[in-house]
Amino acid sequence: MHDGGTPSPVKSTGGPHPRKPAVPGQRPRVHASKRPSGGSGRPPRATGRAPVRPVAELEAQDPAARGLWEATVEPEEDRRPSGITQSMIGVSPRMQRVFRMVAKVAPTESTVLITGESGTGKEMVATSVHLQSARAHKPFVTVNCSAIPETLFESELFGHVRGAFTGAVVDKVGLLKRADGGTIFLDEVAEMPLSVQPKLLRALQNGEIRRVGDAESTRIDVRVIAATNRDVKRALTEGHLREDLYYRLSVFHIELPPLRERPEDIPLLANFFRQRYARRLDKRVEGFTERAQAALMHYDYPGNVRELENAIERAVTLAEGPEISHLDLPPSFREPPLLQLREGNAFPYSETMSLEQIEAEHIRRALAHFAGNTTRTARSLGISRSTLWRKMKHYRI
Ligand SMILES: Nc1ncnc2c1ncn2[C@@H]1O[C@H](COP(=O)(O)OP(=O)(O)O)[C@@H](O)[C@H]1O
Ligand SMILES: [Mg+2]
Repeated sequence: MHDGGTPSPVKSTGGPHPRKPAVPGQRPRVHASKRPSGGSGRPPRATGRAPVRPVAELEAQDPAARGLWEATVEPEEDRRPSGITQSMIGVSPRMQRVFRMVAKVAPTESTVLITGESGTGKEMVATSVHLQSARAHKPFVTVNCSAIPETLFESELFGHVRGAFTGAVVDKVGLLKRADGGTIFLDEVAEMPLSVQPKLLRALQNGEIRRVGDAESTRIDVRVIAATNRDVKRALTEGHLREDLYYRLSVFHIELPPLRERPEDIPLLANFFRQRYARRLDKRVEGFTERAQAALMHYDYPGNVRELENAIERAVTLAEGPEISHLDLPPSFREPPLLQLREGNAFPYSETMSLEQIEAEHIRRALAHFAGNTTRTARSLGISRSTLWRKMKHYRI
């Protein structure tokens, strides 16, 4: 959400974690974790409330049974000033697999490499891994590798001693040291300068760092999580990422699927963000019109969940009635041209269409008719839901 533009290269959170991490092994439909606040030093108040309220509710109301658009989730309830709650949503089998993987790998000391397009939730997953680990009470330091100039990289990461180079007027503690005992998140790791990569690898292998200009090494104990939105194989062959560092980082690899490959998550996410922004903007916005639902389902989301969230924030702001209309959505979300051209119920058939085009168009219309509800659409088409999803993926619906 706030990831675009020119982010500060470094974010750091520290201080005690107020709660125990979520129990690994549970089957989360909503994956929530609590993020410690940034460096205020104030111990957070414990409330004793469970951080993951929506899980039980969601599992009780199987979205398939209720119709996806009616399945809503409670937004995160807990907004103490000492921290923010993060709730990761996903009913798709692929996201369920991601959540299970997070629960398994979090309690270990392994490094984790997270890949996926921009906006798919890589930073959320990294945060979850930290918060479900034994290091949850320790610092979580995020380094945006694409935002640090090459000349400063080494001293940012390892620190420097006063006088090490022109401009080094005071000692500087490096980010690895700041993460000591906790986790460092190397975001956009394929953008790390090649000159720094072997030094980082050595530091990780030896558990020691040496500040620029220092004769002595110091021991550190840091868990590394890395992420990239590049195609890793290509980053390796094109020489952006050193192979030895890659093997060190990718003990576990979690891949986040693009949103267009898991359309069944769209209604849940859309409702979740609607509730979040309705509450923040103090507006009564209680649902989506059928055309808005169809538009949300048809869109292919090059910016993934971040783009959906931004679209919903905008729509809640613009909404004039109790429901979000398709006109409140960004113009790129409007329904596909074929549907706009042909009003009424006539099937948009022409003798020159291929069978595939006809099938794709028929599926689109059926989905629009059932407001994006894949269960009802599949039933009406006489195919299983998984066949419908496969076809939607094939036709990029
Ligand atoms: N599964 C999800 N459930 C809820 N919010 C999500 C989910 N995935 C992503 N988001 C939201 O989308 C935005 C982008 O997520 P982020 O983790 O920064 O993605 P990435 O690091 O892959 O670009 C954030 O605002 C995040 O809260
Ligand atoms: Mg990111």
